[in-house]
Amino acid sequence: MFSLLRLVVVASSALLAGGVPVPVPAPAAPMLFTRDTFNASLPNVTIFATGGTIAGSAGSSSQVTGYKAGALGVDVLIEAVPAITNVSNVKGVQFSNIGSQAMNSSLLVDLSQQIQVAVDNPYVSGVVVTHGTDTLEETAFFLELTVRTEKPIVVVGAMRPATAISADGPMNLLEAVTLAASPKGRGRGVMVVLNDRIGSAYYTTKSNANSLDTFKSYEQGFLGTFEDVLPFFFYPPATPVGRPYFDLVKNDPVDGMPQVDVLYGYQELNAALIPAAVESGAKGLVLAGSGAGSWTDDGNAAVQKAIRENHTAIVYSRRPMDGFVAQAPIEDGVEWGIGGGFLNPQKARILLQLAINADYSVAQMRSIFEHN
Ligand SMILES: *[C@@H]1O[C@H](CO)[C@@H](O)[C@H](O)[C@H]1NC(C)=O
Ligand SMILES: *[C@@H]1O[C@H](CO)[C@@H](O)[C@H](O)[C@H]1NC(C)=O
Ligand SMILES: *[C@@H]1O[C@H](CO)[C@@H](O)[C@H](O)[C@H]1NC(C)=O
Ligand SMILES: *[C@@H]1O[C@H](CO)[C@@H](O)[C@H](O)[C@H]1NC(C)=O
Ligand SMILES: *[C@@H]1O[C@H](CO)[C@@H](O)[C@H](O)[C@H]1NC(C)=O
Repeated sequence: MFSLLRLVVVASSALLAGGVPVPVPAPAAPMLFTRDTFNASLPNVTIFATGGTIAGSAGSSSQVTGYKAGALGVDVLIEAVPAITNVSNVKGVQFSNIGSQAMNSSLLVDLSQQIQVAVDNPYVSGVVVTHGTDTLEETAFFLELTVRTEKPIVVVGAMRPATAISADGPMNLLEAVTLAASPKGRGRGVMVVLNDRIGSAYYTTKSNANSLDTFKSYEQGFLGTFEDVLPFFFYPPATPVGRPYFDLVKNDPVDGMPQVDVLYGYQELNAALIPAAVESGAKGLVLAGSGAGSWTDDGNAAVQKAIRENHTAIVYSRRPMDGFVAQAPIEDGVEWGIGGGFLNPQKARILLQLAINADYSVAQMRSIFEHN
């Protein structure tokens, strides 16, 4: 592994002009990493690199904050892990090279459609997506709802930049490719791999801003782990109960996805933020309520006005890390909004965008969120 680390450091220091990291130009065309290592009896995996800390470059090996995310190209990431060529032939696609805070819905639609093409290729066994960790759970969840396949799709990131001591990216990438190449990964939906754990994209969330063991799903648990880099699943293949599918070819969001904003609940909530969001173009709102969907009286009045007058789609989610919101508040025998079920606010936002884009009725939205 020492030589791998050196390769990354050498490659990245070439990018440092007076200590300022400059982005590597993306390869002109997708590259097929055949080289002398191509082995027709191995599975083929396509790696879509989007950027993030896993491709991050810092000025020193001890710097783990304030570095440039998405500085290294996909070829550098792959070259740094020669063991990959023992488990799979890999093709690297430089989809983007951005920090995950810059990921947006038009890029998500494009990524999903490109991944659908890749998994529809009979020679491809699985797909890996490298991604910044900050919004990784949103991209993984979007792919979970929009790509139709039995093949493994593995979203992977790193908490330490490639230039750090004990960078976690190379091992995470090797495990992700091994999983994407493995028949054991089939029929389990989109998976998130970091820190030797396999989580379902449906529920896995980033729980800690800094630590390596940040991706958790406290209620639903992990799907599996790795034993000496080989995936081990605790249970047979299954996908989340009630998982809907959205066809982005049938409902192609040409101008990006509908605007859905998340509002946070707190004491003395500013209810004026609700009409402000609607006036700025929000077609839907997700409310991160302070308990199981609880929201202030002023806030509820503003929400009901937006539903009545602007037909805004409202999902009541929760501020606590876990739990469920069974239904929205009932007044005069009417449910004003939609209960967010078990989804956290950022995932509820993705699902609501897809539901609005597909012209779902409120009743249809309730059935996918509230599982009834
Ligand atoms: C190709 O892969 C197969 C299966 O892993 C392995 O048995 C074989 O040794 C490999 N061939 C070469 C030339 O590496
Ligand atoms: C990998 O792709 C090559 C063609 O590029 C094909 O010959 C080979 O059968 C594929 N491997 C698998 C396991 O599908
Ligand atoms: C690939 O596997 C062979 C046979 O197990 C091993 O000798 C070699 O070191 C491996 N290569 C890498 C880069 O891990
Ligand atoms: C998303 O980002 C891409 C590139 O960074 C940009 O071209 C595109 O216009 C953005 N889309 C939206 C909806 O902001
Ligand atoms: C929301 O409804 C109010 C009352 O009908 C209307 O004045 C306002 O223009 C609407 N806002 C949007 C963005 O449609």
